[in-house]
Amino acid sequence: MALRGTFSSRAGFIAAAAGSAVGLGNIWKFPFEVERGGGAAFVVMYLVFAFLLCFPVMVTEIAIGRKTNKNPVAAFGSLGFPKWNLIGKVGTFCGVLILSYYNIVAGWALGYLIEMLMGNFDIGNQFSQAQVGAGEYYYAGDILKVVVYSIIFMWMTSYVVGKGISGGIEKAAKVLMPSLIIMLFCMVGYALTLPYAMDGLKYYLIPEFGEINASSIGGALRQAFFSLSLGMGTLITYGSYLSKKENIVSASALITLADVAIAFIAGLMVFPLIAFNNSGDLTNLVSGPGLLFVNLPNAFGSMGPGIGVAVGSFFFLLIAFAALTSTVSLLEVPVAYVVDELKVKRKKAVWLVAGVIYLVGIPSLLGNGASEFFTYAFKLPASSDFLSLAAQLSDTLLLLGGFFIVTFTAYVWKRENFNAELAQGFDGFENSLVSKFLNIAISYICPFLLGLLFIVVLLSNFFGINLI
Ligand code: PHE
Repeated sequence: MALRGTFSSRAGFIAAAAGSAVGLGNIWKFPFEVERGGGAAFVVMYLVFAFLLCFPVMVTEIAIGRKTNKNPVAAFGSLGFPKWNLIGKVGTFCGVLILSYYNIVAGWALGYLIEMLMGNFDIGNQFSQAQVGAGEYYYAGDILKVVVYSIIFMWMTSYVVGKGISGGIEKAAKVLMPSLIIMLFCMVGYALTLPYAMDGLKYYLIPEFGEINASSIGGALRQAFFSLSLGMGTLITYGSYLSKKENIVSASALITLADVAIAFIAGLMVFPLIAFNNSGDLTNLVSGPGLLFVNLPNAFGSMGPGIGVAVGSFFFLLIAFAALTSTVSLLEVPVAYVVDELKVKRKKAVWLVAGVIYLVGIPSLLGNGASEFFTYAFKLPASSDFLSLAAQLSDTLLLLGGFFIVTFTAYVWKRENFNAELAQGFDGFENSLVSKFLNIAISYICPFLLGLLFIVVLLSNFFGINLI
């Protein structure tokens, strides 16, 4: 155990775990999911799911990690149930899949940062040259640039993870997270002064509950899971480096709150910018992954040369920072497995795993216009490219992972063991209200709703069948 890393402080753990949670999911994905899911009604469902279903799953993951001091593949076995290691295996696969495409989007953000610095606001239009299916637009631009930027991003991620837990992941998060929060507040302040800001806010904040259907309910839960980094063992892994003195419940509450707050605040920045770009008319937006990448450079371009460069660069720097603390956590999961179980040295494990993940990402990289096959051949109800397939598949697996993690904990590992782990670092846990809530949640609410919504999402994402 001495050889495994540990977080040096509670604040360090929270910064790293919140860093994992806050990422492209909050700033890139959340706005387009809100747009797809029908606006503010989606936001309300997302908030309910985050606290009712996701918070208990987070506590459970961290508890399993800390109890076992193991990576997700070995953790279940170490509790005495080796068959259940399958959850960890699927989770680790899912992490590899997520990072394979996530790194590409992070690379776009890095590339956009450079384009903004050079004052190339036309990049958004270049992004949307290839039109795919109904309302989906993809990057048809310079594939070489995309390759270079995604390699740079994977290199940065590997560099941080290679430095270990307290010297790499924790240290990076302690710098990046506060910077991100400051940048975000500055950007919101600025975005709210733009013309049409109110139209953006109205769209974002006034719910129309008529827009709720199976696909938006499922979408809200998927988004909450993804955004909180749940269901694949990221937090089992981070929990495995956490000291027994720390209070898991309050740390999880803080992480959930920080993530939800930042997603919400990012919306206050993004929707006014989009409204500004569309002169207040948000009825016919470029939807999906292109929402930010197409709309925003135009918006920055029309702010005037000096200010556009400044605001645009600031915006994509913010996204790159957010992405980095998340890619780091995604890479750490398979790396922890290779280090713990295959006894490979950390640095070597990092470069090996990062290399493999980069290769897995190549179809996603080519699936945005560069290769016709990877752009069009993967037909799902809402998309046809490989990147979207990888995203939908992994999102769906996260829900399944969450279902099994809580079910395992309540009925196989057993609640008394779960409670005993949580009581360490939390005096008076046994008789607290939150303990009652968590026990009911992991025994009944989460298994039932996660199981049900997994089926709803599966049917709607992959078969186009909407039950509601
Ligand atoms: N939560 C991250 C985000 O919102 C993505 C992520 C998912 C990270 C799963 C780790 C595990 O961007």
